Amino acid sequence: MKAIASHNGLAAAQRAYELASTGSSPLDACVAGVALIEDDPEELTVGYGGLPNEDGVVELDAAVMDGRLHRGAGVAALQKVRHPAQVAQRLMEQTTRALLVGEGALRFAQANGFPEENLLTDKARRMWLYWKRTRSNFDDWRRPAADETDLDVEHWFATRFYGQAAREGRHGTVHCAVQGPTGDLACTTSTSGHAFKLAGRVGDSPILGAGLYVDNEAGTCGSIGHGEANLTHLSSFAAVELMRTGLSPVDAGLELLRRIAAKTPEHERDENGRPKFNLQLFLLHHSGAHAGVAMWGPKQIAVCDEQGGRLEDCTPLYER
Ligand code: GLY
Repeated sequence: MKAIASHNGLAAAQRAYELASTGSSPLDACVAGVALIEDDPEELTVGYGGLPNEDGVVELDAAVMDGRLHRGAGVAALQKVRHPAQVAQRLMEQTTRALLVGEGALRFAQANGFPEENLLTDKARRMWLYWKRTRSNFDDWRRPAADETDLDVEHWFATRFYGQAAREGRHGTVHCAVQGPTGDLACTTSTSGHAFKLAGRVGDSPILGAGLYVDNEAGTCGSIGHGEANLTHLSSFAAVELMRTGLSPVDAGLELLRRIAAKTPEHERDENGRPKFNLQLFLLHHSGAHAGVAMWGPKQIAVCDEQGGRLEDCTPLYER
């Protein structure tokens, strides 16, 4: 038995492991684990408190996949509901469909009694406003004066958005995968997507094969980072297929990162020709072996098994 998660999902992995150990299905366990992160207002890339789109509206993407049934579903650009992974699970369980977006996803959530609320926290609103006021000298907005400056917000933009770690702060996401006591696999990925994205932009997280994939006979893979790179490589599907052919989780993950790096468009490369963006894959082989890989290290993967919960280093393709 094991649960793995992205670095920001240690609590999710621990909760999922505990639930799967006490009789919950792997899917119920990972969705319940991820709900802890969706609830956290300090997590700026997931659920309640996630950074909004360019209009200041929080739009969430998530998907689930169950290896035992080989079924999955996703919801995209969902507003007002803080647990999109739960909505995706209901969609998988109650319907014959695999993807709902926007207004349709909200109506489905309403029909299922999910509470609606404003997901934009004061902190996320202040960050969005700072972005609007500083991104251009050719619009109506004036840059914040010294006495208006919010040091926390300014520091975040300097170090995570505009800084050397080029635009790491634009994307986050949480992924969690579980192998239950009978060997069945399941996983979920949940995100608020790229910060300040175009309204209606959908990333990789709600797309089966891109942001997550499970095959009970091979393994699971899920991803966080620059979603468009995953969408053009169907990275999670491809990595699981590589594990099926005999590659270890770390070799399968690194092979995908190499493929993505080789085909990165020119405008997304640094002066040395390497991708400017980050992308991490979290892999769990059906044998129970796991790995986290990152386009740019250092990064970590959360793991929970009989030795308890911990963060381990991902294997990077490149080091900063
Ligand atoms: N991987 C999250 C996103 O690109 O939306």
